[in-house]
Amino acid sequence: MGGVSAEREISLKSGNAIHQALKGLGYNVVSIDVGPDICRVLEKERINIAFLALHGGYGENGSIQGMLEVLGIPFTGSGVLSSALAMDKEASKKVFLYHNIPVPPFTVIPYKSSNMHKLPAINFPLPWVVKPVAEGSSVGVSIIRDEEDVCLAFEKALTYGPRIIIEQYIEGKEVHIGILNGNVLGGVEVRPSLEFYNYEAKYTAGLTDYILPPEIDRSVYERSKEVALSAHTALGCQGATRVDLRIDRKGNPYVLEVNTIPGMTETSLLPKIAGLAGLSFPGLLEEILRGVIEKEQ
Ligand SMILES: Nc1ncnc2c1ncn2[C@@H]1O[C@H](COP(=O)(O)OP(=O)(O)O)[C@@H](O)[C@H]1O
Ligand SMILES: [Mg+2]
Repeated sequence: MGGVSAEREISLKSGNAIHQALKGLGYNVVSIDVGPDICRVLEKERINIAFLALHGGYGENGSIQGMLEVLGIPFTGSGVLSSALAMDKEASKKVFLYHNIPVPPFTVIPYKSSNMHKLPAINFPLPWVVKPVAEGSSVGVSIIRDEEDVCLAFEKALTYGPRIIIEQYIEGKEVHIGILNGNVLGGVEVRPSLEFYNYEAKYTAGLTDYILPPEIDRSVYERSKEVALSAHTALGCQGATRVDLRIDRKGNPYVLEVNTIPGMTETSLLPKIAGLAGLSFPGLLEEILRGVIEKEQ
């Protein structure tokens, strides 16, 4: 847990919630705030399984996963390649396109080619969503509705890395689907009271309504679950993931991203979805551990 990404604080919350619940189940648990001394700490602690609660940066992009593989320590969730692909919104979208998984029309602009004041020539209509290619928690994400918004949106996104992705804004609903050990758990509809599901709407109590199950047609829900599972599978993900989707006014789902280490406080979305499927928070954690043990055998 912890780490140095922009999502450090959320990760500490996930890590503490997991620690408490696993302790309650009788496991011998140690919390590790990941820093440059991580290899030495792991050597000292002699752990059997690493339950990863890192969000963003090296905790979610395959780096920690690679280190644990080298050290021979089994860990929860996706492996090196899947983590790296899922964290990179350009790479994952290219894999989705290859598998005919619907994604919003998008283009990627490298820093040097971006004129900070003009609308770039793009072959899909406004509004656009601008985001850093490899961040989470809506950090650096903005919506461009006209030329006036370009400068601030680009500046914000570029704070987090040299590549920015521009997507067509999908007017409609937002649904997140939870996946556990290769099966769909269910979904939640996310209704923020702010312009979109930004950092504030995600982490300020009362700013977003969560509807379980989503208020969408049954067939649209079924299609969304199917598309979400295909996205998880296309990247080769394992364990628990949360797939973020937008659903347009006609009921067509579009995959935004696959989160390989989704928020894990008791009130986070994946635990909420699991709850609806009859799985308590500790039950969800045990299922995640079971997935690791089965993989190791
Ligand atoms: N193409 C899009 N159309 C509409 N809203 C979007 C689009 N892309 C992102 N958003 C909004 O921005 C939020 C964050 O985007 P997302 O791609 O999930 O990145 P993050 O990794 O930061 O969560 C989404 O939950 C959604 O509310
Ligand atoms: Mg998201």
